[in-house]
Amino acid sequence: MKGLILSGGRGTRLRPLTYSLPKQLVSVANKPIIHYVVENLLEAGIEEMGVIISPETGQQVRKSLLDAGFQRARFTFILQEKPLGLAHAVKTAKDFLGNENFVMYLGDNLIGSGIKDFVEEFKRTAPAALILLKEVEDPRLFGVAELGEGGKIVRLVEKPESPPSNLALVGVYIFSPQVHLAVERIRPSWRGELEITDAIQELINMGLEVRAHILQRWWLDTGKKDDMLEANRVVLDEIRKTRISGEVDENSTINGRVVVEEGARIIGSKIRGPAIIGKRTVVENSFIGPYTSIGEGCLIKNSCVEYSVILPETEVIDIERMEESLVGRRAIIKKGSGVNRALKVMIGDDSSLEI
Ligand code: TTP
Repeated sequence: MKGLILSGGRGTRLRPLTYSLPKQLVSVANKPIIHYVVENLLEAGIEEMGVIISPETGQQVRKSLLDAGFQRARFTFILQEKPLGLAHAVKTAKDFLGNENFVMYLGDNLIGSGIKDFVEEFKRTAPAALILLKEVEDPRLFGVAELGEGGKIVRLVEKPESPPSNLALVGVYIFSPQVHLAVERIRPSWRGELEITDAIQELINMGLEVRAHILQRWWLDTGKKDDMLEANRVVLDEIRKTRISGEVDENSTINGRVVVEEGARIIGSKIRGPAIIGKRTVVENSFIGPYTSIGEGCLIKNSCVEYSVILPETEVIDIERMEESLVGRRAIIKKGSGVNRALKVMIGDDSSLEI
């Protein structure tokens, strides 16, 4: 069985961050989301992975995966010229996939358990497709499956006004090669994309068996800022114990489960976990509150940061209180020194600033 990781797309909902950093490379608990995807595939015994990349961000994705040094993973990078839909990505990867079954995994999705059971169920039941579903509170926001007898899916509906169930499609699927036939038969949707839900519905219409596997643990789709912060909260919550590999001086206190990576220095500060402080980062005279990930090589000085994700090499200086924030790489956030403390900014397109 092969893996197909989707790491193309536009990431419009996470602009301006995604102008320079693909969302699959945004870090949750200081690890890029797509690395969790690779780990889950490897754990399920899948080593041959195709990675769908876009012309804009493909090189960054490639570098991140190759530099991470995953043992056993073999990557083939497949360029999708335009983000014309998830089923279009399957079509683009057809040569790589050949005549094999494959797990298709959206590169911006995080799930709380591995996919081992899911893969085993596919091998045991050998359907045309096995779809991962999760119970959600408001199914009107998702693609929803209607189940028939014995775990079979009878119908899929996109964002239904009156949902037939509360089971939403998670972004992980296992397909037999029959899916290629279904993809050939569908037409672009109203938004101009070849939709994977249409391809799956086509398999059902062709009289083939499409089955459901219901995920018991959490699922997070990291498309927007709040989802990203929630993913960071959930993943940090899974830190089991404190690990201090950097330096913490005698004037600092660490409470709760905290990771301080190698070369990081905590000076006269208080850190309340769950939190992670990246390599070579300096936290000085500051408070880092729960559910915060500070990337590598940052400087946090005279500030208070809580429930936030700060990406590498960013500086936060003299900020009284910063929370629920997602900050890109190499940013500088600093309180002005003028008497009237006027706001002085350089802000890119689509930025959001709450003062
Ligand atoms: P989406 O989140 O549906 O789309 P997007 O990444 O373009 O984001 P936005 O809606 O904010 O503009 O995509 C889900 C995943 O699939 C994501 O990891 C990107 C990937 N993808 C492709 O690889 N090719 C595609 O054609 C599309 C639409 C998405």
